This record gives sequence, C-alpha cells and structure tokens, in this order.
Amino acid sequence: MKNTVRTIRKMKQEGEKIAVVTAYDAPGARLAAAAGVDMILVGDSLGQGALGYADTLPVTMADMLHHAAAVRRGAPEAFVIGDMPFLSYNLSPEQAIANAGRFVQEAGCDAVKLESDMTVLPAVKRVVECGIPVMAHIGLLPQSLKTAGGYRVAGRTEDEAKALLATARAMQDAGAFCVVLECVPAKLSGEITRALAIPTIGIGAGPECDGQVLVCSDLLGLFAGKQPKHAKRYAEIGQMMHQAFADYVDEVKSGTFPTAENSF
Ligand code: KIV
Repeated sequence: MKNTVRTIRKMKQEGEKIAVVTAYDAPGARLAAAAGVDMILVGDSLGQGALGYADTLPVTMADMLHHAAAVRRGAPEAFVIGDMPFLSYNLSPEQAIANAGRFVQEAGCDAVKLESDMTVLPAVKRVVECGIPVMAHIGLLPQSLKTAGGYRVAGRTEDEAKALLATARAMQDAGAFCVVLECVPAKLSGEITRALAIPTIGIGAGPECDGQVLVCSDLLGLFAGKQPKHAKRYAEIGQMMHQAFADYVDEVKSGTFPTAENSF
C-alpha cells in the first residue's frame, strides 16, 4: 500500500517507527522501496552523495528535479519527498510555492522538505495551503553552514532548546505533516516528540523520535572518510565496489575476461 500523509501520521499514533532513507537515483530508490522503507527523501545531500560537492550549497533546482524524477521512476509506489535546495524557497512564499510545485509536477514527488527556521514559516504555510505536503527540518540546518560557522549540534543551551520547541510547534501549526530533527540532543528530541501530534524524524537526534532518516551513502559505506557520529554503516559497499573494479582491471589485463562464455 502506498503511504500518504495520513498513513504516516497514523504510524505515530500507533507507535510504529518510521524508516526514511535518502536516494538519488532509480536503482537506489528501487532497492530502498523493495526493502520496505516508509518514505524516500531525495535530499540535497545529493551534493556530497552523488555530485562531488563539499556541501549542499551548490545544488540547484535543476539538479534536484533531475534526480527526484529518477527516484520516482525507480520507485513508482514510494512516498517520495523532494528537498528544496539552497535559496529555492527563502526569497518569498511565492517562490517557495512555484518551486515546490515543480517537485510535484515535473518530478512526481509527494511532498517537499524545507530547512525551517521562523523566517520560512509563511512559505511553509502557503505551500501546504496550495496542496503540497511539507516535511519541516529543524536543528542543524546544513544550508546555513556559513552563517552558523560550521556544522554543530543545535539546542544545547536552554534558550536554543526553547526556540527549537517553539519552531517545531509553529511548523506543526503551519501544516507540516512531519518534522526532521537534525543533530538535536536526545533529551530535547524526546520532549519535542512528545509535544507534537505530527511525527518527528531524527538524524543524530536519539532514539525517542517517531522515525529515523539516514543518508544512503553513510548507511551503505560509500564514503571513504570518517563516519559521522550519528550514522551507522549497514554495509561496506564502497569496499565491495573497489574490489569489483580491481578484479575487473586484473582480468582484462591478464586476458581472463572476456572468455568464450561472454562472446558471440
Ligand atoms: O539532504 C539530506 O539528506 C537531508 C537529511 C540529512 C535529512 O536533509
């Protein structure tokens, strides 16, 4: 059965945890959907995960639409969320509506995600009013990397914690159907989760959230570098790919591939 905003909300009400993963292409989406994930996020982590950028800031609407459409083709029945990239929703609610609409009309997405501080509240409200479900995203906001002076856990001081809870409530009141909590202390995530009727989806936000989201390249072991503290590798696909490429090179060089079996 295809998930909808109603089935996702019902999962919170019934205490069923929600599993979300990012995907950037059709094969990744097909495999994630077949494994039973509840929602697929075409994150702007596309920048680091597939496009070779150092952060999410260079990712454009054209990049996002191209990859979101591929994800939709790979997983026709999945609940797919398109992540609105840097400066694609911050200029005005009208800009946010127009670009959110492109995710639905051109890429077949079911919802959009916006990195959400109080400045984008009017945009969240208007996008939902126009019929497009919004996943809010609070805590560490990677698109604010430069003003924040780096990636840091959010909500550590009492004032920050109060502000995060207020923002989460405001996003719910504006109509968001769920909210991502990124790098938020576990205790505060628990408080926010209990305070909201909509599901919280954590990444680096402890076990009390209603669901979890992981970046597929972290989950699959596709990065060579240090693993982020919040991530868990469920496979070493990067090592397997390296070995497969190396075996292929060896066999071509030694003349053991192709054989008669691979010939016409
Ligand atoms: O872009 C992304 O993958 C995200 C998740 C980390 C929530 O925003």
